Parts: sequence; structure tokens; C-alpha cells
Amino acid sequence: MGEEGFTAEQIDTSRPHPARMYDYYLGGQDNYEVDRAAAERVITLLPDIRTAARENRSFLHRATRIVAARGIRQFIDIGTGIPTSPNTHEVARTVDPAVRVAYVDNDPIVSAYAGAKLTSAGDAGFVLADLRDPGAVLEHPVISGLIDFDEPVALLLVAILHFIDDAADPRALVAALTDALPPGSCLVLSHATSDFHDAEQLASVRKVYDNATANLTLRPYAQVRSYFDGFDLLEPGIVQPPFWRPASPVPDDPELHGLGFYCGVGVKR
Ligand SMILES: C[S@@+](CC[C@H](N)C(=O)[O-])C[C@H]1O[C@@H](n2cnc3c(N)ncnc32)[C@H](O)[C@@H]1O
Repeated sequence: MGEEGFTAEQIDTSRPHPARMYDYYLGGQDNYEVDRAAAERVITLLPDIRTAARENRSFLHRATRIVAARGIRQFIDIGTGIPTSPNTHEVARTVDPAVRVAYVDNDPIVSAYAGAKLTSAGDAGFVLADLRDPGAVLEHPVISGLIDFDEPVALLLVAILHFIDDAADPRALVAALTDALPPGSCLVLSHATSDFHDAEQLASVRKVYDNATANLTLRPYAQVRSYFDGFDLLEPGIVQPPFWRPASPVPDDPELHGLGFYCGVGVKR
């Protein structure tokens, strides 16, 4: 049994899982044949997906460091993904070793790795829960044990909301979570978008995800912007990941300008 009470047999290897496909895009080893086959189909349709995954991960690292440097000492990272070092707690603890991190994901395979790779050192915990049930996330004992909602919190929703379809009302889900946070809290968010690729190409990519455990809903700039209502955006606002406070000048590479992802960080008013 894993720490959340599931067995290895419950790990579904018959359908592609977005967490394991993302692990494959990043060059990880924690994926199965079904995930690799689906990810390869996406790579054929969208050759820049691997660069997008790497750049998204690198945004997560820079944003985590910047938010920790602003003095935030507690993080809720929803849609953790299969652990890929450095993980959120490792990055944030380069600023302050006392940072507390609650990881949340609905994929049992992420939970299976959590004990060894995410929660074994310092104040960190893992919750096997679904973003579509924000009450269950906020009320979970691991969250209440780690997070003091009277102090600013960093909420990470990095590359997860495009797995929430419109029927589940992602904007209301984000609001339910951010309503629980005090002013000065930060929202760190990235989202796949339809703004940079042609519609036919993206329709084919979406079909690959139709067979996976979560579908893909790409959203335009205005919708991604709306998740930050009630937040002041840190400079440079909502941009593609390579352009969010890059560590060094971004090369003039058309691929980097065409990545189908937006990201940003907001501070709650
Ligand atoms: C593409 S990975 C992103 C990993 C990490 N946040 C990053 O950006 O590097 C998306 C993660 O979101 C998780 N996920 C998808 N839908 C979810 C949901 N409804 N509730 C919780 N986690 C979900 C997947 O299992 C996967 O681990």
C-alpha cells in the first residue's frame, strides 16, 4: 500500500496518463509504453512540445524562487507531476530551508513516488486529491497541518488547468482556492493555449489526449488572464514561459516565440 492507501495494481497502464506523458516530454523514465506511444504521436504533431515542457518546468523554478524571495514560506503545488528534480521544495529551500510544501495530484503514480522524492525531508506532504474538489483539498489534514491560512501562501497551478474542461468551471475552482488565501499570497500559473498553433494541428493533438485519463482544453489569452482576477500581475505579466524573467537573454529562436503556453505570477490584493 502507498501512503494514501492504494496498491500498485491500481496504477493504470492501459491508458496514457498526462503526468507520465509529461515525464516523457521532459526526458524522464517514469512512463509506460502506452504513455510513450501517445507522447510520440503528440511530438509528431507538435514538435515543439518537448521545448514547451522544459520551458514550463524552468518557469516553475524561476517563479518559485522569486515568490520565496518575496518572503513566502508556504506552498501548495497542485498538479505536482511525477517528481523531477529539482522539485518545488528543493527550489524554494535554496531561499529558506524552512519552507513548507503541500503537494497535490490526482494521479496515484505521483503519490507512489511522493514518499521517496517529495516528502522525505523537512516539512512537506502529499495529498492524493482532485483539483475539481477544492473543498477536499483545502480541508485535507495534510494541508491544515502544513499551511497557515493567516500567512501568505504560494498557490502553484502549473500546467494543470488545461486538463480541466469547461464543464468543471476552472475559473470557479481557482476562485474557490484563492478565496482561502490572505492578501499578499501568490498565484503561480501556466496554461496551454491555442493562440500560437493552427486549429487543425491542435485538434489532432486534442484527439490524442481524448484517449488519456484527462482531456486537453487549450484556452486563449483572455481566459488565462481571468484566472488572475483579484491579483496584481508581477512583471512582465502573462507571457510565454521563456519570456517570464529569463535568467539570461532569450535567443532569437522562432520556436521559443511560438510555444503554445502562457504563464504568469500574481499577488493577491
Ligand atoms: C503536465 S503535469 C505538470 C507538472 C508540474 N506542475 C509542472 O508543470 O512541471 C500535470 C499534472 O496535473 C495532474 N492533474 C491533472 N488533472 C488533475 C486534477 N483534476 N486534479 C489533480 N491533479 C491533476 C496530472 O496528474 C499531472 O501530474
